[in-house]
Amino acid sequence: MSRIKLGFGILILLAACTGQGGGGQSEGGQKVKLEQYLVEGQQLYLQYCSACHQREGQGLAQLYPPLSNADYLDDNVEGVVCIVKNGLQGPIVVNGVEYNQAMPANPTLTPLEIAEIVTYVYNSWGRERGLVPVTEVEKILKTCNAGD
Ligand code: HEC
Repeated sequence: MSRIKLGFGILILLAACTGQGGGGQSEGGQKVKLEQYLVEGQQLYLQYCSACHQREGQGLAQLYPPLSNADYLDDNVEGVVCIVKNGLQGPIVVNGVEYNQAMPANPTLTPLEIAEIVTYVYNSWGRERGLVPVTEVEKILKTCNAGD
């Protein structure tokens, strides 16, 4: 009898917790998560990317293509995730300018770190795409051809 009562009590507690706040709460959670990704993503960007693409993503002369205002990023989260992981070589055109240097791969970056970097890049320098969650990045990584 007392066990049944206890179980019932827990059920009510659970219902109370999940019912509270509802959508508003998870929206707040998304915002906090985005903030976390952006803070971490900026650190990682400065560590892994800015030496070539520069602090503001402006690129460097004919050597390193820009990330800020780069048409290459438009609707191309998949491509960017794969490039961060596997690097890139061969000629590429960004904003009408051809580049042809090798970008090194980043085999030690975890899916979460890649998600944070890509979120940072897609929410900086005028872009506001929102969160690119680690779950999405994990799915994309399975589709990359090594050497992409
Ligand atoms: C050693 C220099 C170097 C580093 C470090 C580097 N890149 Fe690159 N990146 C390049 C070069 C060079 C290209 C063009 C490759 C080609 O010509 O095929 C490129 C291309 C790109 C592109 C596609 C073209 C564009 O400008 O949109 C993206 C996106 C990109 N890099 C993102 C990153 C990110 C994010 C990081 C950090 C994780 C990073 N890169 C680190 C040199 C670098």
